[in-house]
Amino acid sequence: MKFSSLFFAGLAAAQTPAPYTDVKSGITFNTLVDNASGYFFGLALPVETTGTDFIATIGGKGTGWSGVSLGGAMLNKLLIVAWPNSQTIVSSFRKTAKYGSPAVATGTFTLSPIANGTYVNSTHWTYTFLCSNCIQTDGTTFTANDDLPSLGWALNSAAPSQKTNAASAVAKHTTEGTYQIDLTKARSANFNTWKTWAAPKLSAVAFDA
Ligand code: HEM
Ligand SMILES: *[C@@H]1O[C@H](CO)[C@@H](O)[C@H](O)[C@H]1NC(C)=O
Ligand SMILES: *[C@@H]1O[C@H](CO)[C@@H](O)[C@H](O)[C@H]1NC(C)=O
Ligand SMILES: *[C@@H]1O[C@H](CO)[C@@H](O)[C@H](O)[C@H]1NC(C)=O
Repeated sequence: MKFSSLFFAGLAAAQTPAPYTDVKSGITFNTLVDNASGYFFGLALPVETTGTDFIATIGGKGTGWSGVSLGGAMLNKLLIVAWPNSQTIVSSFRKTAKYGSPAVATGTFTLSPIANGTYVNSTHWTYTFLCSNCIQTDGTTFTANDDLPSLGWALNSAAPSQKTNAASAVAKHTTEGTYQIDLTKARSANFNTWKTWAAPKLSAVAFDA
C-alpha cells in the first residue's frame, strides 16, 4: 500500500517542490523539478508578509519552452513562458481565455533578470528574475495570503517557431500539470538582498536576458 501510493504520487505531479540553491547565483528557491524532462520552476519570497513581488527561476533541458501558470490553470491566469535563444533567454507574460498559443499579456507586472542566475550551459538553460507586481488580486495569480497555492507547469521540448521573438507562438505542451507549493519553504531573510541584484525593469513584452 505504502509503495503504490508513493508510486502514484510520483507519477501524478512530477515531484514535490523542495528547496534548491542555484550554484551560480546562490539564491535558494522552493523548486519543482521534473526529472523526466528537465523542467524546473522555483520561487523565493521575503520572510515578512508577501507583497506583490517574488523572485523565480525557470528552466529546462535543450531548446524547448518552459512555462508556469501563476494561478494553476491555463485559462485566464497569468502565465510566464521562456526559452533559450543561443546563449540568451527570451521570456514573456502570456494570458488566454481559450486553449491555444497564449497571447502576450500586458499589465503592471514586469520581469527583471538576475544576471548570474541566467545562463545556458551544456545541458540546461536557466532564467532567474525578479517578478514585480506579479502577485495580483484579480484571481489571475496566487495571492499573498496563500500558504499552499496551486501553480501550473508546462513545457514542450521543441523550440518555438520564432525563437528570437518573445511574442512567438508556441506549440502545445507535451507535458503539463498543476501542483501545490508550500510558500513557507520559499521564504528567505536574504530576499531583499537578492532583489537588489535584478537588472532595471523591462516591459511586459520580453527581452533578451
Ligand atoms: C498552442 C499552445 C497551447 C495549447 C493548444 C494548449 C492547450 C491546453 C489544453 C487543451 C489543456 C487541457 C489539458 C489537455 O487537454 O491537454 C491545457 C492545459 C494546461 N496548459 Fe496549455 N496549451 C498551450 C500552451 C500553454 C502554455 C504556453 C502554458 C504556459 C504556462 C500552458 C499551461 C497549461 C497548464 C498549466 C495546463 C494544466 C492546467 C489546466 O488544465 O488548466 N499551456 N492546455
Ligand atoms: C550573483 O551576483 C550578485 C550581484 O552581483 C552577487 O552579489 C552574488 O555574490 C553572486 N552570486 C554568486 C554565487 O557569486
Ligand atoms: C531526480 O533527480 C535527482 C538528481 O539526480 C535525484 O536525487 C532524485 O532522486 C530524482 N527523483 C526522482 C523522483 O527520480
Ligand atoms: C547546468 O545547469 C543546471 C541548472 O542549474 C544544473 O542542474 C546542471 O548541473 C548544469 N550542468 C552542467 C553540465 O554544469
